[in-house]
Amino acid sequence: MSLEDAKKLAGNAAVDKHVANGMRVGVGSGSTIEFSIQCIANKLITGDLKDINCVCTSYQSTLSCQEHGIPVTTLDDPRVNGHLDVAIDGADEVDANLNLIKGGGGAHTQEKIIASAADQFIVVADERKRSMKLGEKWAIPIEIIPASLNVVLKRLKAAGAEPVLRMAEKKMGPVVTDNGNFIVDANFGIINNPADLECKLNCIPGVVENGLFCNMATVVYFGMLDGSLDMLRK
Ligand code: 5RP
Repeated sequence: MSLEDAKKLAGNAAVDKHVANGMRVGVGSGSTIEFSIQCIANKLITGDLKDINCVCTSYQSTLSCQEHGIPVTTLDDPRVNGHLDVAIDGADEVDANLNLIKGGGGAHTQEKIIASAADQFIVVADERKRSMKLGEKWAIPIEIIPASLNVVLKRLKAAGAEPVLRMAEKKMGPVVTDNGNFIVDANFGIINNPADLECKLNCIPGVVENGLFCNMATVVYFGMLDGSLDMLRK
């Protein structure tokens, strides 16, 4: 099975098992969530799903939902009122306790807000994302206010990280997020206490949000390259 097929398996499973008529659905960002978006769109066409409203975590998923004819709204819509039935999103790294590193697409601030607003936070990933401990594969993406760059870099180095300002492709200079901020990728090596680090990073002046998502995911679906579906549940 190809990697794309493994992502599709996970993306479809999340919709099949967790999205029902009338739900307000948070939609994450990345390549795996595209399969969940396609699945929602197909079910709306066939009538297997009705009356769905999606709140998106990025311009990417907003545009994709709109292209697929899926109704899109915001957390401030009175019908939503800051509460979602379910949020579905991808991840860059997942540990055995369902803690995550996210932000490979630079959208983790909205992703965390939307996940925190949902009764259930469902993660869709392929098997490459699985780790024993976070930090084995990914640095932590940290969204920062541009003017704080040097202050934040110093603080991260003092905390033992190797921080790198994320540079754009097909644009000169750094990545600028959907919120108009920079992203610093901070490599801390293996992270033994991710919940503690998640809080500490957000205490650095200039940090908007970091990509550690601890104690948030309720279920993770892994599409496996052998064609099977694996699951971690809280
Ligand atoms: C974006 C994210 C994505 O969900 C994460 O990078 C996973 O993406 P993909 O499904 O393409 O591997 O956190 O900020």
